[in-house]
Amino acid sequence: MKLENLDTPALFIDIDTVEKNLAEMQRRIDHLGLTLRPHTKAHKIPQLAQKQIDFGAKGICTSKLGEAEVMLEGGIKDILITTPIAGDTKIQRLIELHTQYPEAQLYQVIDHPQHVDEIALLARQSNVEVNLLIEVESGQQRCGVAVGNNLTALIDKITNTAGVRYLGIQAYSGHLQLIKGFDERQKQARSAVIALFDYIDTELKPRNLTPKIISGGGTGTYQAYKGLNYTEIQAGSYLFMDASYSNIGDEEHQDRNLQFSPALKVLSTVISHPTPNRAVIDAGMKSLSIDLGMPTVDFRQDITYQCGGDEHGILHLSSDQTLKIGQTIVLTPSHCDTTLNNFDYLHVVKNGLVVDKWKIAGRGRSD
Ligand SMILES: Cc1ncc(COP(=O)(O)O)c(C=O)c1O
Repeated sequence: MKLENLDTPALFIDIDTVEKNLAEMQRRIDHLGLTLRPHTKAHKIPQLAQKQIDFGAKGICTSKLGEAEVMLEGGIKDILITTPIAGDTKIQRLIELHTQYPEAQLYQVIDHPQHVDEIALLARQSNVEVNLLIEVESGQQRCGVAVGNNLTALIDKITNTAGVRYLGIQAYSGHLQLIKGFDERQKQARSAVIALFDYIDTELKPRNLTPKIISGGGTGTYQAYKGLNYTEIQAGSYLFMDASYSNIGDEEHQDRNLQFSPALKVLSTVISHPTPNRAVIDAGMKSLSIDLGMPTVDFRQDITYQCGGDEHGILHLSSDQTLKIGQTIVLTPSHCDTTLNNFDYLHVVKNGLVVDKWKIAGRGRSD
């Protein structure tokens, strides 16, 4: 089927562009001497996670336990869950994954002694050992223990508690990913974690507590850490890109990022054309997220998108090139993660033809 014949609104990727992005990031990470553990919160699809591994990634990240369940069901066996979990129901599910998939490598992020006690208790009852990474505060002021005595105490606690194993540290500075200007972004990213690496050298190493894994970094910051001892990069958005990431600048361009190309798109239909300068499409905010601004219209720089509510998108035309009711248009989302989360299926397009359709199996699995 031709792309333009898909019923709309429809989410699709150009698979050649995705594969180019996958190869390019893997090449860049290899060049930096690091390991890639891509964050799959951007796509939530086991087939795409498997592709990332086929291109050279060591394993994957998921944000949530529910996403990890979906990935394990889809055959992915090396997963870091990057958000702390709380409460016996959740912890029991984590333990069940260990008993159900004994061959899998699973890692859970935590940042508090209570996490250690509660996870270890249920782990011991089921005779399993849970690998833990400690999330460290790296500027975002979200989760994460501060660098200092509390970090050492938490490592000591894990090391001395049966049922859990200390594997390393997560330091992800999410608030810096979209800073405009390559040099400024790299500078801020580095300075957000420099105290951590000093602390590892001066306090943890002498006590034999050097983390085996240090995981972090995103699409905007993965290059910032030269000479530091990150072992894994968790970048996620690079495979799709989006209008926000395309504007942050790269090594050569102040306000464009051409390292990777936008591959995730929404196909929408013009349903109304009330005035020559205003058309309406069938994709509102239940299709195209607007948390990071408005989507852009492909091939038509003279058109701007305005959200017209849940189901309507308003297009403002600044030229006299009107559209036709019934014609389809292609939009690039401003934020790939939150746009993808609106759809059940991702269509796979190659050379303008729809060649496959993948269920977004992790959609709705924020549990
Ligand atoms: C903990 C963590 N690691 C990695 C990523 C991926 O970063 P990006 O999508 O900027 O590449 C995210 C994204 O939110 C994240 O929360």
